[in-house]
Amino acid sequence: MSTFSESDFDAERYDRSRPSYPDRFYAALDKYHQGPRRCVVDVGCGPGTATFQMAALLSGFEQVVGTDISPTMIEKARSASGSDERVSFEVSSGNEFSFLGAAKANRQTLDMVTAVECVHWFDFASFQSSVAANLRRGGTFAIWGYADAAFIDYPELDAVLNDVSYGRDQLGPFWQQPGRNVLRGMLENWVFDSRYFADEQSAEVRVADLRAPQHLHAQQRPLILSKEMTVSDYANYVRTFSAYHTWKTKHGDSEEDIAERLVETICTVQPELTPDSKVQVAWNTFYKFARRV
Ligand SMILES: C[S@@+](CC[C@H](N)C(=O)[O-])C[C@H]1O[C@@H](n2cnc3c(N)ncnc32)[C@H](O)[C@@H]1O
Repeated sequence: MSTFSESDFDAERYDRSRPSYPDRFYAALDKYHQGPRRCVVDVGCGPGTATFQMAALLSGFEQVVGTDISPTMIEKARSASGSDERVSFEVSSGNEFSFLGAAKANRQTLDMVTAVECVHWFDFASFQSSVAANLRRGGTFAIWGYADAAFIDYPELDAVLNDVSYGRDQLGPFWQQPGRNVLRGMLENWVFDSRYFADEQSAEVRVADLRAPQHLHAQQRPLILSKEMTVSDYANYVRTFSAYHTWKTKHGDSEEDIAERLVETICTVQPELTPDSKVQVAWNTFYKFARRV
């Protein structure tokens, strides 16, 4: 997936407009992890969305490294790095761990590897074998992600939001496949390679579960992703899609901006909403944890 590496990709807007993950989720990851906490590597870290949270919310990791194939994303992550000397960032493909240095790379030295909202772009078999070469026995491999947001109190807008993302005359043709469909399916058919990983813990949450009182069990899962946004903020979130970037590259300013048109459609279908109205946005999510055998 090269869109995020393009020099005109707006990593700043990505950082501002994408959701981060709830504290409760990191508590579940913290509890799952066993043994030493010397180093966690966050692959496909983008602007450091989960990397900074892990440094703050997982207890006691001595080193937290974010890696990403996109120099644009890593530049943004480095610019946001504060005074926490445990946190660093490297430009690297997901399968590559040579930034660890010859003494550590491919020698099962890591305690945890995470891949957040990115693994659907990878060749999962070769990624698992790279992770297995670098994760110590008993170390944690954690992947999670989200897709297909909805305005939780406005089910009547589901079709509008779905249409901008997947409509044939909207962003639908501009996603890289099969990655997008894999993500939409919450990686349900992707299984950990039992030669390397065991003790899987996984769960999914669908927006439909959050709307239905009878789905209390789903509402208690750790990865509930929900954020208050204005309708205009939501349009900016759409502008962070790789499909939007590709659409924009093809159309330039020759057509009305697809995200701006979305705001107009939302406010027409739901006249009580204005661009500044606040709405609660929620996403379908999944996570999968496993331990290196
Ligand atoms: C949707 S962003 C996710 C960023 C962040 N992890 C988050 O939770 O928001 C996907 C990231 O994966 C990176 N990526 C895509 N393919 C990659 C690869 N083969 N190796 C490393 N990073 C990759 C992209 O550059 C992008 O920053």
